[in-house]
Amino acid sequence: MKHLLTLEQLSKDEILEILNLADQLKFQKKNGIEHHLLKGKTLGMIFQKSSTRTRVSFEVGMYELGGQALFLSSRDLQIGRGEPVQDTARVLSRYLDGIMIRTFAQQEVEDLAKYGSIPVINALTDYCHPCQVLADLMTIREFKGAFEGLKCVYIGDGNNMANSIIVGCLRLGMKMAIACPKGYEPDPHILEFTKNYPGMFEMTSDPFVAAKDADVFFTDVWASMGQEGEALERKKVFEGIYQINSKLMSVAHSDAMVLHCLPAHREEEITNEVFEAHAAEIFEEAENRLHAQKAVMVKLMA
Ligand code: CP
Ligand code: NVA
Repeated sequence: MKHLLTLEQLSKDEILEILNLADQLKFQKKNGIEHHLLKGKTLGMIFQKSSTRTRVSFEVGMYELGGQALFLSSRDLQIGRGEPVQDTARVLSRYLDGIMIRTFAQQEVEDLAKYGSIPVINALTDYCHPCQVLADLMTIREFKGAFEGLKCVYIGDGNNMANSIIVGCLRLGMKMAIACPKGYEPDPHILEFTKNYPGMFEMTSDPFVAAKDADVFFTDVWASMGQEGEALERKKVFEGIYQINSKLMSVAHSDAMVLHCLPAHREEEITNEVFEAHAAEIFEEAENRLHAQKAVMVKLMA
């Protein structure tokens, strides 16, 4: 593993290795055991979109590993004024030990990896959000004990989160169902990927069909970063149907858990009632961003 560009690039064993290391790092942190595995190393963090969790968890994670992180907003970088990513990659490779990037086009992340000579971590693109889903998988194992035999369901927009969730859940042997409106399906590459898992994947426009006998619920906002202009139109399509609420949860297993990458829009994709009833899982999931990303950085940069 040289980079983390998408989840598809990781095998089941590679994902499990990251999750096992993440569990170990979480234990060490909770027990005050020093784990300076990246002493003297520097991570550059390029942000072309907003962030709360990703920025703070990477920065704190790097500090806890004995290294240092640099917050590089595209508003201040020359990249924001049009300096090509090919050049930025070659320059930053001479200063840093790793780059984390959050941006729009997946191609930009791929180019950074192609032209640079240091590990690149995808911290969200329009196509996928692998770091988030590693934390999600870690949380599922924490709450459910194992992956085998579980059914996951995603309700809503077939966006970056949906794309990575489908890959992560199928890779680890879980069944996956998605309910999304027509025209808002996951990326065609992801639908192609699901063909490797016959009988394990289901796509429907009916949330009640998808949620039947589910063990793990996922959802995400109806309009992602960069889609602000479509928010009203999307609301009309999703409202009243693509929402995790107690009625929908009643067709799932009674001990089903609920995950949300956050930020959440209460009463849109999830009711306040369900959100608060499952706050334990949702905020453990947010915490696990820290541990999972530390594991990724150690795997790539140590
Ligand atoms: N879930 C997530 O990536 O959150 P931020 O946008 O706050 O980083
Ligand atoms: N789909 C959301 C995820 C945010 C973490 C977005 O891209 O805005």
